[in-house]
Amino acid sequence: MPELPSVDAHYPAHLAIVQARADHALELSGHGALAIGAGLPLYQFLDDQPYPFKVNPHFKAWVPVLAAPGSMLFHVPGRRPLLAFLQPEDYWHEPPRLPTDDWTRHVDIAVIRESCEARRLVPPGCAFLGEPFSGIEEWGFAAVNPQAAIDSLHYARAAKTAYELDCMRLASRLGAAGHRAAAEAFAARASEYEIHLAYLKATGHCEEQLPYPNIIGLNEGGGILHYTDLKRARPAEHRSLLIDAGAQYRGYACDITRSYAGAAGLYAELVAAMDALQLELCSLVRPGIDYAAIHHAAHAAIGALLARLGLVRCSGEAAVANGLTKTFFPHGIGHLIGLQVHDVGGFMASERGGTIDRPAGHPYLRLTRRLEPGTVVTIEPGIYFVDLLLDEARRDGRGRDVAWNVVEALKPYGGVRIEDDVVATAAGPENLTRPAFAALAA
Ligand code: GLY
Ligand code: MN
Ligand code: MN
Repeated sequence: MPELPSVDAHYPAHLAIVQARADHALELSGHGALAIGAGLPLYQFLDDQPYPFKVNPHFKAWVPVLAAPGSMLFHVPGRRPLLAFLQPEDYWHEPPRLPTDDWTRHVDIAVIRESCEARRLVPPGCAFLGEPFSGIEEWGFAAVNPQAAIDSLHYARAAKTAYELDCMRLASRLGAAGHRAAAEAFAARASEYEIHLAYLKATGHCEEQLPYPNIIGLNEGGGILHYTDLKRARPAEHRSLLIDAGAQYRGYACDITRSYAGAAGLYAELVAAMDALQLELCSLVRPGIDYAAIHHAAHAAIGALLARLGLVRCSGEAAVANGLTKTFFPHGIGHLIGLQVHDVGGFMASERGGTIDRPAGHPYLRLTRRLEPGTVVTIEPGIYFVDLLLDEARRDGRGRDVAWNVVEALKPYGGVRIEDDVVATAAGPENLTRPAFAALAA
């Protein structure tokens, strides 16, 4: 796991922005204060075991406290934030440790021993933000998850603060370390499960700390978009690896995909061409661009690539026009990322809500907004060989333009995807992922 520098320098400015966004959200919703619940453990049916705890993203936007369920953050405009930190008296479990990092200088902290003790701290006119819990109606909240406040906060958080970008750079460093270890394990002919273990060890993460389940597909496994089966057996051949795996730092995610060829040949050419194509698309990430335009540019580029490498017999333009690019590239070009790997607010028309519809015929695009300075998105083009989709093309006539012999030869390789996280800045795109890999090599 790499040594990481401190992100504390930008925390006070981050907190000021988070407070200002909250003040504005309260104005819009007509409330005087905000209580943000960390959330409570969720128990499995008829069991005394909880699911892995996932903190409320609104809570971790304020304080990097990821594992103190039952805690609550209070914001009253003009005052310092107050964190009611739940530290139960418990000899069965280790209670969450009271944070002492530099950020704690900017927040008042009250230790509570039971979550209900936070109730006496609720200010008048307070809206609650978080998962409603049993008995919440007794707490005297003026509202629970008022839509006007949520809309405003969700819209605003697409643009990251300097602190958030620092956190995401560090998450990327961890992710890159995991990816390097995974690539080495692939070269050593490991199983999917062994590659996963190598990834976890290099990132220092437990499985439940990953921002999403690792997708690690050897050979045909790379052709299943969300393949998480992690076969224990080493395959006879290591033709290809598609690994889509992230990491987090202080609750901010990275989302990275790499594809590797086991030997030279057409699949290796496809990986190299996809890498170049992906970098071209990353260069479009700038303030003001409509993200759907990047998605359309991806289809145009993938059409051209399919034609150039001989997977289709028509032109790239024709492959886009007849929908054949969707057979090979059946998902969106990416999404917002930050506190959640697929971050919220991707379709919002404004801070007051409303929807910007997806372009017709593109049901899996997750972001239709124009980018602003500080917006972080993923750029993740791919080409896959999926029987379900290929059969559909065969049936509806588009198959006449497919070079079936080439596609059949590539099927055992599953697919290829390259994914980086990119910030739109006034000075141009800042790729968070590529420098994280370069830093490992340095
Ligand atoms: N890791 C899921 C995605 O790329 O969106
Ligand atoms: Mn992604
Ligand atoms: Mn991904």
